Amino acid sequence: MDPDLQPNQITDEELIEQIDGALDGFIDHKMPSDLNDAVCYALFGGGKRIRPLLCLRACIAVGGEAEDAWPAAGSLELIHTFSLVHDDLPAMDDDDLRRGRPTLHKYTNEAMAILAGDAMTALAFEMLAVNIDDAETSKRCIAELSKATRDMIGGQVYDTFREFPESWGDMTRLKMTHSDKTGALLIASVQMGGICGGASEQQLKALWCYAHALGLMFQAVDDLLDVTQTTEKMGKATGKDADQGKLTYPGLLGVDATRQEIVKLRKEAIDALGDFDEKAEPLRKLAWRLANRES
Ligand code: IPE
Ligand code: IPE
Ligand code: MG
Ligand code: MG
Ligand code: MG
Repeated sequence: MDPDLQPNQITDEELIEQIDGALDGFIDHKMPSDLNDAVCYALFGGGKRIRPLLCLRACIAVGGEAEDAWPAAGSLELIHTFSLVHDDLPAMDDDDLRRGRPTLHKYTNEAMAILAGDAMTALAFEMLAVNIDDAETSKRCIAELSKATRDMIGGQVYDTFREFPESWGDMTRLKMTHSDKTGALLIASVQMGGICGGASEQQLKALWCYAHALGLMFQAVDDLLDVTQTTEKMGKATGKDADQGKLTYPGLLGVDATRQEIVKLRKEAIDALGDFDEKAEPLRKLAWRLANRES
């Protein structure tokens, strides 16, 4: 990196290159070659790398160096990719297309996709345990990621079976599903980045509030794009949520109110960073980018 560049001047593309390098170096043929190929097919398939990016940007926002958070960033992408591989399985959303290519179970077969998801879960925690030198930081990251993974799976259970406590109204059901299935991993991303960067408790609380709003917003946008976008543009099937009876923002509120909710959540996320200086600017920009994304 050019020494004259401030940390917040590193571009997202450069950070993504770092993340891909860290992941590539870590996977490094630890497994049987067909399992290794399946994991690499899913992991290096053109994802936006939002969770690792949030992690590195949170680390920088609290005054840390991006490289301090590389293992945390890699572990988040491993869990995210496992969640997508399993999300696409016939027993779940039953999707054939992901990131513009056949889903992993179409590229290989269902058994291999299940096993690759399992392997990525193990690799994620191994990456945190083995590649973070400071024992306390490693332990705190493992605690964050295991809680988020458990919450994400709980959210997928709500999403798949739609069984909720009777006392919950529709909006509570929607928010619980979305904040668990999607928000939890976004919260873990900024918490782990913050921890690796030496954040104070107050900074971690602010980052939590940012990511909580961002998580709901991110899934609201995903729901909206399912209704408004083409399969070609998204690289995954669209128009499926209603057919599958999913609980979604546009399904519950309609398209216009969903757009208003996205603006409200974006503002909530950015407001949470009020006490941060310009090192948090990329996190603010990311909230804008994710609110306005069209694919
Ligand atoms: C898709 O996540 C699944 C959701 C939580 C909505 P992303 O939109 O981050 O997927 P990739 O990794 O960029 O493909
Ligand atoms: C996926 O939500 C959430 C997780 C994988 C945890 P969706 O089912 O809406 O994601 P897409 O639309 O298939 O990417
Ligand atoms: Mg799903
Ligand atoms: Mg899905
Ligand atoms: Mg979706």
